[in-house]
Amino acid sequence: MEHEFWHRRWANKEIGFHEGSVNEYLYRHWPELAGKDTGAVLVPLCGKAHDLWWLHDRGHPVIGVELSEIACKDFFEEGEEKAMVQPGEPFTVFRHENLQIWNGDFFQLVPDDLSHVKLVYDRAALIALPPEIRQQYVDHLTAVTPENTRILLITLDYEGSPTSPPFNVSNDEVYELYAEDYQIEHLHTQTLANDHPFAKRKGLQGASESVFRLTRR
Ligand SMILES: C[S@@+](CC[C@H](N)C(=O)[O-])C[C@H]1O[C@@H](n2cnc3c(N)ncnc32)[C@H](O)[C@@H]1O
Repeated sequence: MEHEFWHRRWANKEIGFHEGSVNEYLYRHWPELAGKDTGAVLVPLCGKAHDLWWLHDRGHPVIGVELSEIACKDFFEEGEEKAMVQPGEPFTVFRHENLQIWNGDFFQLVPDDLSHVKLVYDRAALIALPPEIRQQYVDHLTAVTPENTRILLITLDYEGSPTSPPFNVSNDEVYELYAEDYQIEHLHTQTLANDHPFAKRKGLQGASESVFRLTRR
């Protein structure tokens, strides 16, 4: 999507994707991915997800990357923590202890930025991107993270051809996108009840969320 699309969403508070609590799959499946490893975690397209605090509280250095300055400011204000702000190009960095949000475009990251990263958490990042950008996203993620990086990926699938996020990403597409560089383990699929807030809002039947563990070959 164009950057302007996301800036508008944040300015108009159209952020239905924001959960306001720790994601249940993160809570349930992170230990399977990380074990006792408290290495650095990259959270691409992080919004103001509470998940960042949860990862930080488990002892991980965290780097979130987010286009919207509103999201970065809200995150620390709502968490009632002060952030040191280091203005810069292409990223302004918001920092509290070992938790950083890099305010800028994910596609501007370079390998030196992330040479210490060991883990990635993707919730509503891949599915925020239209089909024609997804391979570019995966290739860039792979290019800027070190070898042996492990990813917890959460996807959403449903019938239809949406023109705005969240997009539907099938399990087959996950294999198409990642199989070349990653070993893929499909950990879980959950059908969303028809009265689930997202399914209800969109009038969807049979939507499902899936969780994958991806290990770089
Ligand atoms: C669907 S939201 C998901 C946010 C978060 N992962 C969550 O679970 O709440 C996608 C986020 O990606 C941000 N975004 C979109 N394109 C981006 C880009 N190229 N670089 C950095 N952030 C981006 C948007 O501003 C938005 O906050």
